[in-house]
Amino acid sequence: MTPITNQNLALEFIRVTEAAALAAVKWVGKGDAKAADKAATDAMRQTFNTIDFKGLVVSGEGKKDEAPQLYEGEIIGTGAGAEIDLAVDPLECTDSVSNGRPNAICVIAAGPRKSFLAAPDVYLDKIAVGPEAAGRIDLDKSVAENIKIVAEGLKKPASEVTVVVLDRPRHEDLISQIRSAGARVRLITDGDVAAAIATARHESPIDVLLGIGGGVEGVQAAMALKCLGGELQARFKPKNADQEQKLAAAGLDKLSKLNMSDLVLSDEVMFVATGVIDGPLLKGIAFDRGAPISHSIVIENQTKTIRFIETRHVSASMAKAASKCSRVCAAEI
Ligand code: FBP
Repeated sequence: MTPITNQNLALEFIRVTEAAALAAVKWVGKGDAKAADKAATDAMRQTFNTIDFKGLVVSGEGKKDEAPQLYEGEIIGTGAGAEIDLAVDPLECTDSVSNGRPNAICVIAAGPRKSFLAAPDVYLDKIAVGPEAAGRIDLDKSVAENIKIVAEGLKKPASEVTVVVLDRPRHEDLISQIRSAGARVRLITDGDVAAAIATARHESPIDVLLGIGGGVEGVQAAMALKCLGGELQARFKPKNADQEQKLAAAGLDKLSKLNMSDLVLSDEVMFVATGVIDGPLLKGIAFDRGAPISHSIVIENQTKTIRFIETRHVSASMAKAASKCSRVCAAEI
């Protein structure tokens, strides 16, 4: 198998998440979540297919009969180069884009074959923390105990610990437990991938993520946290019979606690994301006189690198106008 790092695939994958974000941003606030998702998915797939690798979509837009593109089992890339498994979300927080709310990102988590848990589309109960509390938290401990552990790790009182939670009726009891433990709650409408990863960033006010969210989102966040020295623990929490059936079909159960070593199975994993709308991990797409500026993160566990990349996407006509202007300016001097 071709080693991943020789190819610098993570850096090539930025073009993919950038393309998806640039396509999705056109739909911000337009009230059409499906169109936003389709635009991001089309752009992601098209750009993937220009890259030399043998990609297998392990987690993507759904089963083959539900999703025409980036479905589970789809082979993408030119077919030359490294064999890579992918957990992709062309647009995480589709509704946020549709409604102009924060925290939408385009995500690729990847690694060699069988390098992460192929999570079915089943809810996961999660706890995620940064390096200071990693190795010490426990999903089976009470909310108050985990908050105390995080407070000790961060060397601050529990009253200054900020816990991010998806704003859902299912979290009412969790929210009161967090408040009873004296900590702060930060509710988000969507986007627990960025929120989980933000626990490992000092710049972010988020210290812990708690609550039930998407299964694939949990694996993607764990892949990023592995490199950042953070930790995510989880347990499947099927919400209905359909999810129970999906879990059983995947040969998984809702009793076992999933630790980092169950979620991430290789040291060679990588995580790439580009912001669409500002969130706790990334800024969204900004515009400078019409030219989009994208903000991406590239995390490679093998090289232990975390890159933040700002890209100015200057169109051909803008470049021409700029060079004309610089010629005129030079002549004037
Ligand atoms: P989508 O963009 O796929 O809708 O995911 C957004 C999200 O908020 C995830 O970040 C989160 O894990 C999941 O939805 C929570 O699911 P639900 O909206 O059903 O509570």
